[in-house]
Amino acid sequence: MKIKSADFVISNTEVSRCPKEPLPEYAFIGRSNVGKSSLINMLTERRSLAKTSGRPGKTQLINHFKINENWFLVDLPGYGYARVSKKDKNTFQKYITNYFTQREQLVCSFVLVDVRHTPQKIDMEFMEWMGQNGIPFCIIFTKADKLKPKAIEKQVQSYLDVLLADIWEEAPMHFVTSSSKRLGRDAVLNFIETINLD
Ligand code: GTP
Ligand code: MG
Repeated sequence: MKIKSADFVISNTEVSRCPKEPLPEYAFIGRSNVGKSSLINMLTERRSLAKTSGRPGKTQLINHFKINENWFLVDLPGYGYARVSKKDKNTFQKYITNYFTQREQLVCSFVLVDVRHTPQKIDMEFMEWMGQNGIPFCIIFTKADKLKPKAIEKQVQSYLDVLLADIWEEAPMHFVTSSSKRLGRDAVLNFIETINLD
């Protein structure tokens, strides 16, 4: 898919203030610093459309980006950021869970995990929660430039094995990406395009 336009529309914490147009949207979620905002920039080929940082906790709001005038990419704050206070964490969790459970335009979410890591409890619990609430998602393995191809294959397989041994009968669809190397761009965009055309 060719990205002809990618425009920031609104940031907020209220589902009721998200764009009203009935356009399909795709949200990026995962631990702080996993590379959600960087992936949005890589997919759209806009270097600083979504704000990124080496320090976790950069994205704090629900950010809507309108793509090709007819669908949205949504950048969300990360979870599992230890330095956020308990009160902030609760507020955060509330508006994120509201977003996932109430946003009718949400077609599919991408749960990002760092390809170098073994399955983390917080990610497993989040995916389990998504499953229980019937919210469709794919897994995106990020930062693939940090490992050699053989090691990536091994990491992905062992990650999926844990998912299958744990709660899932079927592994979710998954993609391997690197924002710095532009790896996985076509696969993710083709996936979105296929759903949008349905
Ligand atoms: P929060 O908004 O804090 O939740 O983080 P985020 O998930 O949006 O991460 P962000 O895109 O801001 O990236 C975090 C750090 O990881 C930055 O230093 C990025 O440069 C780095 N990073 C992101 N993607 C990649 C990648 O594909 N490869 C490498 N090597 N680094 C990456
Ligand atoms: Mg971010």
